Amino acid sequence: MHRWDMRALRRRALGLFACLSVSAALAQTAAPDAKALERGARLIGFCANCHGANGNSTAPEIPNLAGQNPAYLEEQMRRFVDGRRKDPFMSGLIKAMSPAERADAVAYLAAQTMQPSAPPAPAAQIAEGRSYYAKVCFRCHGEQARGDATVPRLAGQQPGYVVKSLKRYRDGTGERLEPVMAANTKMMSDAQIQAVAAYVASLR
Ligand code: HEC
Ligand code: HEC
Repeated sequence: MHRWDMRALRRRALGLFACLSVSAALAQTAAPDAKALERGARLIGFCANCHGANGNSTAPEIPNLAGQNPAYLEEQMRRFVDGRRKDPFMSGLIKAMSPAERADAVAYLAAQTMQPSAPPAPAAQIAEGRSYYAKVCFRCHGEQARGDATVPRLAGQQPGYVVKSLKRYRDGTGERLEPVMAANTKMMSDAQIQAVAAYVASLR
C-alpha cells in the first residue's frame, strides 16, 4: 500500500515557504501562457509530494487536481486563504503563494490529464452509487461528473477524499461549509456516501 509521512512532508514544506516568498518577489504579471505553464510545473513539483505527479494523487484522502476545472481550483485557493475552507496544512501553504503563483499552478493543473489510481470498488456498490448520483448529483456535477466552471469535476476523484468531503458538508464540521452541498448531503447515509464515492471514482 501507499506509504507517506505527513510530518516529513510538513518539514519539507518549510523549505517551500522560503522559496515561494522569493519567487513571489520575482513573479511577473501578464506573462504568456507557455511561461505560466512552465512556472506552474516548477511550483507543482512540491505539491506532487502529496497530490502526485502532474496532480494525480495516489493517496486515498488527497484529491486529484489534474484536469480539475480551473475556476473551481482558483476559488478553493481563495477559500483556503480567507478561511472559508480550513486544512491545517493547505491553508498555510496557499497563503504563502502569491496570486500570480496560484494562477500559474492552476493553469498547469487544469491542463493535466486525470489518471485515477484507486482500485475498483465492488460492482454492486458502484451500481447503488450510480442510481443515487442520477437522482441528485447530476443536476450540477453533470451526467459524466465533469462539473463546470464553478462546480468541481468528480469523475476519477479519489474516493476517500470524496467520502471525507461529503461527510464534512453533511455534518457541518466547519472545515468546509457550503450551503448548496450541505443541502444536498443532509439526507445521505454513510453507506450512500460510500456508494456515490465509489461510483464517481470509477468514471473517467
Ligand atoms: C502535505 C500534503 C499536501 C501538499 C504538499 C499539498 N497539498 Fe493540497 N491538499 C492536501 C490535502 C490533504 C487536501 C484536502 C484538504 C481537505 O480535506 O479539505 C488538499 C487540497 C487541495 C486543493 C483543493 C482540491 C479540491 O478538489 O477541492 C487544492 C486546490 C490544493 N490542495 C492545491 C495544492 C497546491 C497548489 C499545492 C502545492 C503548492 C498543494 N496543494 C500541496 C494535501 C497537500
Ligand atoms: C445544486 C448544485 C449541486 C448539487 C445538486 C450537488 N453538488 Fe456537489 N458541489 C456543488 C458545488 C457548487 C461545489 C463546490 C462547493 C465548495 O466550494 O465547497 C460542490 C462540491 C462537491 C464536492 C467536493 C469536490 C472537491 O473536489 O473537493 C463533492 C465531493 C461533491 N460536490 C459531491 C456531490 C454529490 C455526491 C452530490 C449528490 C449527492 C452533489 N455533489 C450534488 C454543487 C452541487
